[in-house]
Amino acid sequence: MKPKVFVILSIICRFAAAGPGVYLLVDPVDHSECPTWDWRNNLLYFVNIHAGEIYRYHYDTEEAEVIKLNGEVAPVIPSKSDPNLLIAGLNRSVVAVEWNQTSSSDTRILTTLSSQFPTSRVNDGKADKQGRLWIGTMGHEDSSGLTPNQGVLYQVTCPTLNSPLVEIAPVNISNGMAWNKANDKLYYIDTPTRQVVEYAYDDKSGTISNKRVAFDMRNYSDRLAGNPDGMTIDEDDNLWMALYGGGAVIKVNPTTGQLLQIVAIPAEDVTSVMWGGPNLDVLFVTTSRYSLSEEDRKKQPAAGAVFGVVGLYTRGMRMNAVDLLESIDDQSCGSTRS
Ligand SMILES: *[C@@H]1O[C@H](CO)[C@@H](O)[C@H](O)[C@H]1NC(C)=O
Ligand SMILES: *[C@@H]1O[C@H](CO)[C@@H](O)[C@H](O)[C@H]1NC(C)=O
Ligand SMILES: *[C@@H]1O[C@H](CO)[C@@H](O)[C@H](O)[C@H]1NC(C)=O
Ligand SMILES: *[C@@H]1O[C@H](CO)[C@@H](O)[C@H](O)[C@H]1NC(C)=O
Repeated sequence: MKPKVFVILSIICRFAAAGPGVYLLVDPVDHSECPTWDWRNNLLYFVNIHAGEIYRYHYDTEEAEVIKLNGEVAPVIPSKSDPNLLIAGLNRSVVAVEWNQTSSSDTRILTTLSSQFPTSRVNDGKADKQGRLWIGTMGHEDSSGLTPNQGVLYQVTCPTLNSPLVEIAPVNISNGMAWNKANDKLYYIDTPTRQVVEYAYDDKSGTISNKRVAFDMRNYSDRLAGNPDGMTIDEDDNLWMALYGGGAVIKVNPTTGQLLQIVAIPAEDVTSVMWGGPNLDVLFVTTSRYSLSEEDRKKQPAAGAVFGVVGLYTRGMRMNAVDLLESIDDQSCGSTRS
């Protein structure tokens, strides 16, 4: 009897081990977004947008710290020169925030975007391999809907600090971005389109060209709900994206446009994804409870939490840091330089 039980158990265990495991990493906040993995210090950064909070989670000690800025905050990306010097979006501005060991913080506005759309705000952004900041905006959104066509994707560098380059416009909700392993393609999401578009990317000049639709959620309406939000890529060049309103993270092949995997997340509004952990094989997933009714909040008690997903049989690549300032007082960027 005993060996048989063991065989059955080991089969069950193997099945259990074959699927991904989703675990709760950080307790719910209102709207967690824009996870960033600082591989230099084993830290996970993310924001709680409407509360103006930046969190940092120490992977090794499982402790979270938080600082609060005055406004809506997204994204947050550490600097190349100093991992404690963060570049963030605050309302319509790009700001530098210094996060010292003491958790005291200091904020400096570097540039303000989209003056033609005063009620728009920064939504998501990433650094490319050269440290240039790609940062997008969206129109004002409330219960009556989204102010359309007020989003822009900008590129912010030192020489263009005072007049950031417009890369893609107009868009509705500038969102997920990812560069492939060869660094010659940029993938981009304007959320309401329900598509991922691909551009040829020239790393030397930082220019994009030749737009093409790489993935279209509408081709999978029988299996997928919601809209694509934050996105990352793995070392096999497959994309991973959060489905806001879809309760899942999906893996897609951007070359074939195929849906490869659906990972259910215990929250309907999944906002973003980022690889991290010492081996870059844990997928961090942020979620929101912001738009949920009282009833749905009771049904989804973990909404707003940050989750870790393991057992995905792939891993990510190191995130790029922003190369704008040497220190918070560095005045060499902007008009004084150009
Ligand atoms: C951000 O916007 C909010 C709401 O309009 C405002 O109260 C706050 O002062 C703004 N923050 C900054 C840094 O301008
Ligand atoms: C934070 O650290 C930097 C050096 O990394 C130092 O110059 C600065 O004075 C510190 N700020 C605070 C508020 O402790
Ligand atoms: C933005 O949304 C509006 C309203 O749905 C739509 O008419 C418009 O085409 C969208 N803009 C873009 C750039 O997709
Ligand atoms: C979506 O489906 C249509 C019809 O089958 C197909 O022509 C198109 O290439 C698909 N789009 C993508 C991005 O895979």
